[in-house]
Amino acid sequence: DKIIFLPIIGSTNDFLKENFDKFPSGTVVVAEVQTKGRGRNNRTWVSPEGGLWFSILFKPKKKVKPTFFTKAACVAINKALNQIGVENKIKWPNDIYVKAKKLCGILTETIFEGQHPKVIICGIGINVNNQIPEELSDKAVSLSQITGRPHDLKKLLKLLLTKINYIVKKYSTKPEALTRVWKERLMQKEGDEIRFLLDGKFVNGKILEIEDEFIVVEVDGKSLKLFSLDVIVT
Ligand code: BTN
Repeated sequence: DKIIFLPIIGSTNDFLKENFDKFPSGTVVVAEVQTKGRGRNNRTWVSPEGGLWFSILFKPKKKVKPTFFTKAACVAINKALNQIGVENKIKWPNDIYVKAKKLCGILTETIFEGQHPKVIICGIGINVNNQIPEELSDKAVSLSQITGRPHDLKKLLKLLLTKINYIVKKYSTKPEALTRVWKERLMQKEGDEIRFLLDGKFVNGKILEIEDEFIVVEVDGKSLKLFSLDVIVT
């Protein structure tokens, strides 16, 4: 598949959103620096030189849920990192954590044609050799901090793309099986007691159900549907 290297861009996701018509499914865009890197929930994603910032364009021919690609990327990155000796977990819904810190985030965006996802852009950000800003140092970590050495970005990208393509192909006819694999590799399990922030207050609850886009938690005998658990404390 085609890989486009850009020295600097606002956001690789935005680049593909604006230019998807010019490229075939499977095209990958990598940027050395993003000046307007975006995270989930309208957050900014700090993207200086040294990190791996890329987006993959998918134009699915048959019906598929966009979250299929997010889970495929999650599972693939989880496996690839294990392979290079970096123990990591998937934090619901699609972050990669090492111990208690975030190493990688995924932002999947979809352009619908009616009910059908016409274009799916899966944006992946991994802190590799980049400096973690002081104010994020208790929440985020880089691969070089974990392993004590710098990593070859092109080599890492190749490993990840090989794994992502493999997982996408393997599970495209059985997405439920991918959901099972993703669930097995999640930090949080159904039945776990968790402590999380809700409207500014810490609340204890129990996870009843884990889905792609929401989680059901029991708090004081009532079940709550939560669409984001960014401040989960386990
Ligand atoms: C998150 O954890 O909130 C998701 C972060 C996703 C960051 C990547 S970097 C490449 C791509 N381009 C963007 O602007 N965002 C994604």
